[in-house]
Amino acid sequence: MDVVIVEDQEALGGTAASLVVEGLRADPRLVLGVATGSSPVTTYRALLAAHREGLDFSQVHCVALDEYVGIPASDPASYHSFVRREIAVPLDLRPENVLVPDGNAPDPTEACAAFEDAVRGLGGVGIQLLGIGRNGHVGFNEPGSPFGSRTRIARLSPTTRADNARFFPRPEDVPTHCLTQGLGTILDAARIVLVASGSHKARAIAAAVEGPVTEACPASVLQLHPDATVIVDRDAASELHRISRRHASLGGDWLD
Ligand code: F6R
Repeated sequence: MDVVIVEDQEALGGTAASLVVEGLRADPRLVLGVATGSSPVTTYRALLAAHREGLDFSQVHCVALDEYVGIPASDPASYHSFVRREIAVPLDLRPENVLVPDGNAPDPTEACAAFEDAVRGLGGVGIQLLGIGRNGHVGFNEPGSPFGSRTRIARLSPTTRADNARFFPRPEDVPTHCLTQGLGTILDAARIVLVASGSHKARAIAAAVEGPVTEACPASVLQLHPDATVIVDRDAASELHRISRRHASLGGDWLD
């Protein structure tokens, strides 16, 4: 696992976007796994800047990590809406190249299997962008999620519902369930790039990067991935203590 520490969220977005741009230059048909939420927003903004300078996303496939159960895809808080608004429309992706789990499917189990089939049909995810929850979740794999889990219906923890209440009119409007890629699904990506900023993420980052690999901190499983990069700003890095110089590859600033 490589850890890159940058000054702030803008630098974080630029660094993460540069890895995506590198992947896209190597393969114009890149399958890009995307997270929603606040963490990757500066990354998407940096990708938009690259697109405005001529980078072509027309062959890119975009695969979302998760979706709430029970809110319409048209609701601004749905992840269908987020992906359309923040990624697909600005980057001029083809609508048919965007894949988000169907949180309104009459049979969620079937929808999860169809999602897994579709990702497999694309040849798997090339680069997966991730955020991290305060409790160490990735996707909506809450603490205790099995490392081998696949796309499934899952219950959101009280912490996650409270954290995501900012996207809804009232806290009780936050859905209780979601469809999420499993940790096993996420680990199938060829390359993983996790971004985190802010001191409220510092404990989760320390546990994910330096703690034991344990289902109590789902993101710690990324330590087992052969090509995982964690990009954090100074605040999110503030509880890291064992960063070694071997991580200096991307020109961040190092703790030792
Ligand atoms: C979103 C997702 C979640 C978020 C995490 C952090 O698709 O899968 O794991 O990445 O909850 O959210 P933010 O970035 O809003 O703090």
